[in-house]
This record gives sequence, structure tokens and C-alpha cells, in this order.
Amino acid sequence: MEHKRLSPFPKDFLWGSASAAYQVEGAWDKDGKGPSVWDEFVRIPGTTFKETNGDVAVDHYHRYKEDVALMAEQGLKAYRFSIAWSRVLPTGRGEINEQGLQFYDDLIDELIAHNIKPVVTLYHWDIPQGLQDAYGGWESRQIIEDFTTYAAILFERFNGRVHHWVTLNEQNVFISHGYQLAYHPPGVSDEKRMYNANHNANLANASAINKFRELGTSGKIGPSFAYGPNYAIDAHPKNELAALNAEEFNANFWMDIYVWGEYPKAIFHWLEEQGWAPEILPGDTELLKKGKPDFMGVNYYRTMTNAFNPIDGVGHGKMNTTGEKGTSEEKGVPGLFKIQDNPYLEKTNWDWEIDPTGLRIGLRRIASRYRLPILITENGLGEYDSLTDDKEIHDEYRIDYLRQHSLAIQEAITDGVEMLGYCTWSFTDLLSWLNGYQKRYGFVYVDREENDEKELKRYKKDSFYWYQKTIKENGANL
Ligand code: BG6
Repeated sequence: MEHKRLSPFPKDFLWGSASAAYQVEGAWDKDGKGPSVWDEFVRIPGTTFKETNGDVAVDHYHRYKEDVALMAEQGLKAYRFSIAWSRVLPTGRGEINEQGLQFYDDLIDELIAHNIKPVVTLYHWDIPQGLQDAYGGWESRQIIEDFTTYAAILFERFNGRVHHWVTLNEQNVFISHGYQLAYHPPGVSDEKRMYNANHNANLANASAINKFRELGTSGKIGPSFAYGPNYAIDAHPKNELAALNAEEFNANFWMDIYVWGEYPKAIFHWLEEQGWAPEILPGDTELLKKGKPDFMGVNYYRTMTNAFNPIDGVGHGKMNTTGEKGTSEEKGVPGLFKIQDNPYLEKTNWDWEIDPTGLRIGLRRIASRYRLPILITENGLGEYDSLTDDKEIHDEYRIDYLRQHSLAIQEAITDGVEMLGYCTWSFTDLLSWLNGYQKRYGFVYVDREENDEKELKRYKKDSFYWYQKTIKENGANL
């Protein structure tokens, strides 16, 4: 659809940026914080790029005032960050660690004092190790009650100061990486266990949303979903069917539950055939249906292009975590689809397709299927950056990426999609879970390397100034 002219961004559009606790905070064992599964997992040799960890990360825990001052200088309207569960409840349940909670209290006040709206993510992958040890974390239904209790502590403490809440960050990623691909803790590779853990996460998500409403918390709440819209490689009906399989398997399987409380029919039936379907107990569907979100949070990085994959076809393939272009292996789900190179799209050095039109397509699909407003909770370019002798970073490739994706959002708004905001990934450079510190996403360069923390000095990249101008103009001159 071509428009003669584009609609302006809404006046209160949240031009923001984002981070996650483990990736920025550091201070992994300070002020009463208990260990999370990531604090333990990164100690296992070979799990992360060059054995990197978040022990210090970019030391946001101690430098949050400096970081918020930079956000204010840029003119950010919103900052999305996550709360480390084991800072608030060191073993995941029981006594509150007041010092841990106070850190977030102070951060929120600091943001508000600078006219930046806090967007709070309750869970960005760092489940307390205590709960993993006690009952296997997401694999037990006990997680529903414990996650809800933890969420309620935050709702009550920050009610009135926080107006945008994100429940689970990328449930599709932490569940598949944790229980199928074994890239994330707990490093399991077992589909039956994966779909069970995923069902528990669905129930915990819905239960936290219900609690939010019961407590009369002000504001809006929703999950952040990692959505990569699926294309067919060409119009061959078998490839079209593969793309439909991929969309139902990778996207609708999660978003249908969030919004409608029901799994897509064909995929659930296929899981039953494999013996992998989760057990749905009486009351589950009712709980899921009740816990409908106010918005869909979308983390968008790329699209997937699919082709027919026979029953004895390709399965899991290795990811590129080194930044050596072209090292990702072919992958798919036998009998459903396999992922192909899209001849029309450029890729990053980590082999992620760059596709701003894919963002517009994804926003349109969500808006039409679920009729919910959308908050982009992540989008950005992970690339190598270099610091010049004059301490500058000329990241015109990132400006280009963000400009094109902002334009795609404006086109989606013109198409009629209700957009709440755009939180880019990320504000400062940070730890990429599996890719170390060399895969940079920030507007602010943090001078550290994989195994050399240096002084963690902050430098504004060229993209910092581009976003500053874009925010000031409310996206009028993209
Ligand atoms: C999302 C996560 O998957 O993508 C972030 O929510 C993550 O935590 C981001 O950092 C980018 O992925 P990566 O693997 O490049 O760090």
C-alpha cells in the first residue's frame, strides 16, 4: 500500500530505548542480591562467547545516574529496563531484600525527575537460581504462584510511578533456548519438557496480569514477544504452506495464547502427534483467557524466509555468535519448514536479515489479528563499532537502520496500526548474552572489551545525536 502522505507520529509517542538487568547492571552479588541462573550458567566453560559474563557488565548499577543524565540529554521519552528478580527476592521467594528493591526505586525516581517514563520489564531471563534448585524453575507449576507474588511486590511498590509494564521478555526465546536448543540455562534439550515449561510460563504470565488488575494497578501491561514475521521463499504452494507452518509454530503459538488463551489448532495437533503437547488442566484455559494484555510488546530484529522441509529434512543448526559473516548453519523443523536465505535482503555480520518492511508487515499482522495497540520494546542493529582517536563513533550504518525502521513504523501508523512507542535496543552498549561485548547496539559506546573492563567510559555515538534530533521533531523528517 502506497500512501500519498504519511500520518504524523502521535503526540505522546514514546521514543525510547531499552536494556535488561543482566546485560547492564553488573554488581551481580552486591547488596544482598542472590544468584540467578545466568550467574551460574556463564561459569560453565564454552557457554558464552570468550567466556564473557555479566559480573560487571557496563556497571549500570553504580553508574545509573550518569546513564540517566545521558538519556535526558538525548531527550528520551521512555526507558525500558528489567528488574532482577533475585535482587528483590534473593532466592526467588520469601523475605524482600530492601536494598535490592531500593535500587529500582531510585532508578525510577531518577527517570521521572528527568521526565523519562519508566517501562518496567518484570522478567528478562534471570530466574533466581534458588527457584531452579528448589523445583526446576519454569518446569514446575509452583512458578505461577511465585512469579505472581514477585510481580505483586513490584506492582504495589511502583504503582502510580510506572505506567507501562512488560511481563515476560521473549518467552519464545528463553523457553526454546533453555529447553530445546540448550543455548541458555538450564541447558536442556527436550521438547516435551520445553512445551511443559512454556505452558507454565503462559499461566504465570496470565496470572501476573490478573494480579495487576486485581490490585487496581494503574497503567498498561503486556508481554514482549520476539516476532520475526515469516515469508515463503516463492509462490510454490508447498513453500507457502511451510511459511504458514512457521508463522503458526513460531509466532501464533505464543501470541494466540496471550490474547485468546488458546493454542493454534494445527500446531497443537502436530505437537500431540509428536507426544510433546503440554498438559492442559481444568481451569488453565479460563486463567489464560482472563489474562489478556493491554498491548502487544514486540521485539523485532528480522524476518524469516521459509521453504518446504520433508519429515527427514533439516533440524537445528548452529547460530553465528562470533560475528563472522556466513557462519550460521541451515535450520528448520522437519515436516514443517526450513529457513532459507532471502535474496532480497542484506544481512548483518551476525547473519541477521535487515528488513524494515518486515517490521511494517509484522505490525500489520498483529494489529489485524489481535486488535491490540503495539509497543515496540526492542529493535536495533548489533554491529562492530570503532572508537576513533578523537573518541568518536561514526555509526552511520546504525542511523540508516534506525531511520528505515522508524519510517516503517510511521507507514504502519498511516496504515491504521495503533502504536504506543518505539524502544530501540539498546541505550548503552551492553553484554550480548551469547555474543560478548563486541556485538554493540547502543547509542552510547561503552569502552570495554570481552575480557578487559578498562574504565567503562561512555561516549556518544553519531546515532545518539540522530535520535536526539528525531525525538525533538517527533519523527517529522525521517
Ligand atoms: C533480544 C533480547 O533477544 O535481542 C535481548 O531480548 C538481546 O536481551 C537482543 O540482547 C539482541 O540479541 P543478541 O543475541 O544480539 O544480544
